[in-house]
Amino acid sequence: MRLAVFASGRGSNFKALVDARRDGRLPEAEFVLCFSDKTNAPVLDIAREAGIETLHFSPKDFASREEYEKAVLKHLEAEKIEGICLAGYMRLVGSTLLEAFPNRILNIHPALLPSFPGLHGQRDALEYGAKVSGCTVHFVDGGVDTGPIVVQRAVPVLDDDTEETLAARIVEQEHQAYPEAVDLLSRGLLRIEGRRVVRLRSAD
Ligand code: GAR
Repeated sequence: MRLAVFASGRGSNFKALVDARRDGRLPEAEFVLCFSDKTNAPVLDIAREAGIETLHFSPKDFASREEYEKAVLKHLEAEKIEGICLAGYMRLVGSTLLEAFPNRILNIHPALLPSFPGLHGQRDALEYGAKVSGCTVHFVDGGVDTGPIVVQRAVPVLDDDTEETLAARIVEQEHQAYPEAVDLLSRGLLRIEGRRVVRLRSAD
């Protein structure tokens, strides 16, 4: 499966995916393109070092989200991309990309959805007083972190946690959960039944 990774920042999840591919843990997933909405995102350097094509567009250079996504889509089609992994991509995906990749876009979120969606999953769980948090890999739909859940991993929230220490504990689990979910998707082992994602034993 030819995949594009969309990321806005640091890129540790992108690196975890590329490392998993290199280690033979993602036999059917090929990371063809790293796209960023931020020109200077460190993730782009990680991609260049890994020999993966990079692309960046700034949404503010386009009249609308539709125009921006159409420009991205043109490149995805040229590269015959079959699926997208959002890895710290800090903006909503619009209908242009959703319609081009139905049930083919995954996102990783730093909380146990449906709790604490949005931009600050770690901080929101901490401030709420949750005793357990974690990460969620889910399919992307038109809502904010609302799509069917593929993989979740939990971590404790400790009394002396700060947003940073909790985020560090969660991101360790993200680096395990995302390759696991991408492996299942790329091997055709996921079936969506309503809100539930069922794992198949072998590709039907
Ligand atoms: C990750 O913790 C990811 O779950 C989160 O951004 C971080 C990106 O880190 N994503 C979101 O909050 C999406 N709403 P990374 O750039 O090191 O992969």
